[in-house]
Amino acid sequence: MPDYPEIPRHIAVIMDGNGRWAKQRGLPRREGHRAGAESVREVTEACVELGVDYLTLYAFSSENWNRPSDEVEALMSLLDRFLSEKQKELREQNIRLIAIGQIERLPEKTRKLLQTIIVETADHSAMTLVLALSYGAREEIVAATRSIASKVAEGSLKAEAIDCATFANHLQTRDIPDPDLLIRSSGEMRVSNFLLWQISYAEIVIVKKFWPEFRKGDLLEAVEEYQHRHRRFGAL
Ligand code: IPE
Ligand code: IPE
Ligand code: MG
Repeated sequence: MPDYPEIPRHIAVIMDGNGRWAKQRGLPRREGHRAGAESVREVTEACVELGVDYLTLYAFSSENWNRPSDEVEALMSLLDRFLSEKQKELREQNIRLIAIGQIERLPEKTRKLLQTIIVETADHSAMTLVLALSYGAREEIVAATRSIASKVAEGSLKAEAIDCATFANHLQTRDIPDPDLLIRSSGEMRVSNFLLWQISYAEIVIVKKFWPEFRKGDLLEAVEEYQHRHRRFGAL
């Protein structure tokens, strides 16, 4: 047993409740999404301070495209703003940015900005911030299956040789360790198509607060709860 509490190597967050936070205050939903950016800043900072290696933020799901077009547009323009504002911070804090999801579905301007920052921060080493954008775990699993199937069809991979590691290596998260801790804000008890394969043994902490109210202290509390969990991985 280590004599210091274990810090999760990878924390994944379902940032939920922006719309309800705004509604509670009689504001348009967009204002909730805008306010959520401050929570992202605090959580990112806290993770760097704790020494977390990977922080994955679920920012936009494949299903979120089905929201009214004015909300989707507002989210995309906030994402643009977030990315351009973050550029400097990522540089100063030595954070590497990567993205998972169907990035090709994002507007061209957003995609280009994202790509520029990914290239610019590629050798940063303090922490990796993974943005899940236009992300759906089922879509990711289907894409992995398709790519494995085509290798089998062309003869470069034998069907009998496919195991869990083969599968994991065909997911977009192939270079990222599985999340140790999954946090969802707003009290909802569901995973909403997020990292279905990767969270098999993640510890789950549900926080009642809406995402724009989520602060550094909430992250620290979730980590503390994680530190009191006994992870068994099916063994004893
Ligand atoms: C999370 O907040 C942000 C996104 C899903 C983009 P919501 O927009 O889902 O807010 P609620 O859950 O409706 O309150
Ligand atoms: C999950 O939240 C997606 C993100 C936080 C980006 P949703 O609000 O879209 O999920 P549901 O609809 O409550 O399941
Ligand atoms: Mg929601």
